[in-house]
Amino acid sequence: MTNRLQHIAIIMDGNGRWAAAKGLPRTAGHRQGAQTLQKISEAAADMGVKYLTVYAFSTENWQRPPEEVAYLMNLLRHYLKDEFKKIQEKGARIRFIGERYMLDEDIRALMSKIETDTAQNDKFTLCVALSYGSRGELTSTFKRLASQVESGALRIDDITEQTISANLYTADMPDPDIVIRTGGEQRVSNYLLWQLAYSELFFTPVYWPDFSAEDLSAVIKEYNSRERRYGKV
Ligand code: IPE
Ligand code: IPE
Ligand code: MG
Repeated sequence: MTNRLQHIAIIMDGNGRWAAAKGLPRTAGHRQGAQTLQKISEAAADMGVKYLTVYAFSTENWQRPPEEVAYLMNLLRHYLKDEFKKIQEKGARIRFIGERYMLDEDIRALMSKIETDTAQNDKFTLCVALSYGSRGELTSTFKRLASQVESGALRIDDITEQTISANLYTADMPDPDIVIRTGGEQRVSNYLLWQLAYSELFFTPVYWPDFSAEDLSAVIKEYNSRERRYGKV
């Protein structure tokens, strides 16, 4: 089994603490964090990574104070309208996973447009998890499969690991080889629970706004030195 690296997933955590440490409002951390996302996307593409999936906003994050949620949504609008163009012009495909119905209509329209505009790009994919929660994703997948069984379109024996994977938001992407969480916490926070079954996990104390291309390449270097056994000897 090789360690050939295709897919990196990141939990971009620590924006608020980065700002607090500088005596700034949490929103300043989100603004800086969004710039880090641009930089790291370009770096990952340059390093030959094919897929980068980033956790930008969880379904649980809707419970944050309304001002913080509003700031994040406006930041997202700005990125959808202007900032994602930079990575788009470099030939990236951009796509989104998560509960779209919870997002505002104009944001959903901008998301669909970027996805359509970049659908033919196949060198590098930036997948943004927005209003995403893994248990919710799994629950709706199981419901969809169950209703196909109920209608007779699917047999119970046809529910396999492959059909489950193929019904997730991440359907046509390989599972992440690497999951990185910045910001010091060592937990998964409802991210890609099914998909990360055999991912190599990396936790770094660096707050997301400070995460650099050098930090990313250090992770890749360590990944290349790890042995992935997949339960074998
Ligand atoms: C991650 O940073 C960004 C989002 C969850 C939107 P946080 O906002 O969680 O920052 P900390 O963890 O409070 O420092
Ligand atoms: C996870 O970070 C979600 C994102 C990075 C978008 P949180 O800061 O929301 O997670 P918890 O609260 O530490 O579990
Ligand atoms: Mg956090």
